[in-house]
Order: sequence, then structure tokens, then C-alpha cells
Amino acid sequence: MFKSYRNILFGAALIAGASATLLANADINANTGGSKKYAAGKEKGKLVIDGGVTYPVHNGMTGPYHINEKAHGLAINNGRPATPNEIKAWDIDVMPDGTGLPKGHGTAEEGEEVYEAKCLSCHGDFGSGGGGYPSLSKGNAYELHKTLKFQRTTPDADGPVRVFGTYWPRASTLWWYIKTGMPHPAPLSLTDNQVYALVAYIYTLNELKLNGEEVEDDTEINQDNVLKVDLPNKDGFIPKIDGPNGLENTRAFFNDYKNYGNGTRCMHDCFKGEPKILPIQIEQKSFLPPLSEKRDLPKNPCWIASCDVEAGAAGSANAEGKKIYDAHCAVCHGNDSMGAPNLGNKEAWAKVMKQGMDTVLKNAINGKNAMPPRGGTDLPDDKIKAAIEYMYSKSK
Ligand code: HEC
Ligand code: HEC
Repeated sequence: MFKSYRNILFGAALIAGASATLLANADINANTGGSKKYAAGKEKGKLVIDGGVTYPVHNGMTGPYHINEKAHGLAINNGRPATPNEIKAWDIDVMPDGTGLPKGHGTAEEGEEVYEAKCLSCHGDFGSGGGGYPSLSKGNAYELHKTLKFQRTTPDADGPVRVFGTYWPRASTLWWYIKTGMPHPAPLSLTDNQVYALVAYIYTLNELKLNGEEVEDDTEINQDNVLKVDLPNKDGFIPKIDGPNGLENTRAFFNDYKNYGNGTRCMHDCFKGEPKILPIQIEQKSFLPPLSEKRDLPKNPCWIASCDVEAGAAGSANAEGKKIYDAHCAVCHGNDSMGAPNLGNKEAWAKVMKQGMDTVLKNAINGKNAMPPRGGTDLPDDKIKAAIEYMYSKSK
């Protein structure tokens, strides 16, 4: 549930491509009536896109929406309140109390089918994870029924990894995460029933209990029971500040120095020697860095067909040229994607070299169309020349 209309108005205005405007105190419902006027307006070919608003159509394309006349008189005179349907489209989160959960149902049996088709490729058999993808099952805590609850104050070198079954305090997050974020390449592509089924499947992978009973393959999970699952780490995020006892819980938490200190009240020199409190011992560290983390071009692109490790051995000019080519030029000159004259393409290189080396070198130094100056390097002229000579020598 959104906390404030302002954010929604802001988002809706942005998505409509208008300068984002906040219409303070706008009465959303009162404004939807305005659409009738626009729909019946003088311009031909108007389309009602959303229940509340009309957009003019020009040359088959929808244009910007009309200025909201009701907003005139406010400091800023463009933008309009989000319509109820637009708010509905944005308002897709799920709260711990179940607000936002749509109606739906599914079983682990159904979920397994969806899982195998849409999730297994990344998250592994039975949610085993690995290779950079998070585990969806309890992993090393499977037998031990450990949670991360006391990992901060009583760390355990053999503690559980931080995954859904050991760490997450609320199942609403699981539902919402899958619905809005998974499968990774196609978020928001799952139906609500598929999400319930996947959640049921993940419950079984983690041997979780619902109303005291283990979730079975055919246990129906729906909007009414999905959050009644017993998550081992539900109290791991203490203090419990929600609910009628929030204040007392918070006081009790902070009165117990074990929760955040060494057991006694102290303001300085609290620890003799090494502090007893250690960070969580076992963190999930197996994530691979994103492929795009490195900002330079690949240094050794031996994935390209023309990569020839033996080429130009023993100190020849070719060896120097090859090294530069491999490191700086092959990304583009080693494949067809950029339209660069490729290594090995006789025709292309004959045409280039017809201009004479001086011109070609000048072009390589200054850049030419999609060819960046010096191939995007700081290399001196003679090195660029060596790389050109190497490419040409391999393309005769
Ligand atoms: C193409 C790979 C891919 C596919 C397919 C995929 N996921 Fe994921 N999933 C990821 C990655 C990567 C992350 C971690 C994202 C992050 O931490 O930013 C993730 C995270 C998750 C998480 C959160 C786990 C945690 O502990 O943080 C859940 C739950 C999840 N995926 C469920 C699913 C489900 C259910 C499906 C099938 C509908 C699915 N995923 C399909 C790649 C994938
Ligand atoms: C980002 C891609 C890219 C990189 C990196 C790159 N080139 Fe190019 N190069 C091109 C493209 C594209 C062309 C074709 C330009 C055209 O003719 O429109 C080109 C053309 C050339 C030409 C022919 C110029 C002419 O006169 O027609 C030479 C020589 C050349 N590159 C040398 C190099 C050298 C040497 C390196 C490495 C130091 C290098 N390039 C790195 C994209 C690249």
C-alpha cells in the first residue's frame, strides 16, 4: 500500500511523460469525471486509454494528455491527478499483514511444475542455488533447523546461510518478490496462481509449517493462509515494535544488554580484549560479480574465432601488434558486430590499405565513424601502427 498520494501522483505523471507535478490535495475521484468532457471534445479520434483520462491520437500515436483544468489556480498548472486505475497499476506491493495480496491459490505440486519450467535453470534443483544464484531452500540448516536469530550475539561458525528459510521474517516478502521480480528475465510475467503455487513449493523445500502442520505437496496455499506460515526467523529482527505491545517489547529489548552488548551496561571500555560480539559468521558470499562490473574492454578476448595464441612469436613486430590487437582492437575487429574491417577479411583490408598507411594510421589515430580515436586507448602512434600492421598481415 502506498503511504502517500504524492508519490503516486509523481510516478504517474512521470510515466505519462509529462513534467512531473504534484497536485496537492487533489481529489482523485472527483477528477475522473473530466474524461467525459475530453472524450466528447472537438478533436477527432480520441482514445480512452485509462478509465479516467483521454489522450489525443495523432498519426496513430497517443499524444500527451490534456491539462487538468481543475488544477488551474494551483502554483503549477500542468500534470493531473493519477486515476484510480493508474494507482492500481502502481500499487502492487504486499504488506506483512496481507494488504495487497490478490485472491489466488496454488499447491506445491503445481508450483514444482512452474519452478522446473521457469526457475530451475537459475536456482537449481529443489532450490539448491549456487553459481551466483541464491538458494531457495535451507541449505546447511536443513537438518539443524537453525536460524540466524542469535547469530549476532552467539555467532556460530557452522551457522546457517542467509536464505529465505533461515532468515526472512515475513512470507509476504516472498510472495511479492516472486510476483514482481521473478523470473529474473521476465518480471511480472507470472499469474497470481502461479505465484501462490511457487510459494507453496518453496514452503515445502524449507519444510515449513502452516498452522502447526507441515506444508504438503497438495496443501492449498491461498490469500487467506499464505502468511500463516511459521518462519523460523520471524523473531530474528528484534525488537518487535509492531502491535499493541510494541513499546514494552522495545523497552525489554534495549534493557537486555545481551541483545546488543556484552551483557553489562557500559559506556566505554566495554570490551576487554576482543569483543565477544561478532558479525554474522556465515554470510552468503558466493554471488558472482555482475558481468558488467569491469569497465574496461576484455583484455584477452580469446573467445573470438581469430584468436591465435601462437601468432607472431618471438619478439617480431607482429607479436607486439598482436598483443595490442588482442587487448584493444579485437573486441571490434574480431567480429562483425561493429562493422569494423575484420581480422582476416582480405577484401575489407585491401580496401582500407588502398588509402596508404599514412592515411589509415591517421584515421586510426583520429577515429573514423564508429572507430574511436586510437581504438579507445592512449597508445602512442607506433603501437597503433603495429596493431594495424598485424591486422593487415593477417588479412592478406
Ligand atoms: C535468469 C535467472 C533467474 C531465474 C530464471 C529466476 N531467478 Fe530468482 N533470482 C535470480 C537472481 C540473480 C536473484 C538474486 C537477485 C538479487 O539478489 O538481486 C534471484 C533471487 C530470487 C529470490 C530471492 C532469494 C533471496 O534469498 O534473496 C527468490 C525468492 C527467487 N529468486 C525466486 C525465483 C522464482 C520463484 C523463479 C521462477 C519463477 C526465479 N526466481 C527465476 C535469478 C533468477
Ligand atoms: C569500439 C570498436 C573499435 C575498436 C575498439 C577499434 N576499432 Fe578500429 N574500427 C572500428 C570501426 C567500426 C571501423 C570502421 C570505420 C569506418 O570505416 O566506418 C574501424 C576501422 C579501423 C581502421 C580502418 C580505418 C580506415 O581508414 O578505414 C583501422 C586502421 C583501425 N580501425 C584500427 C584499429 C586499431 C589499431 C585498434 C586498436 C588499437 C582499433 N581499430 C580498435 C571500430 C573499432
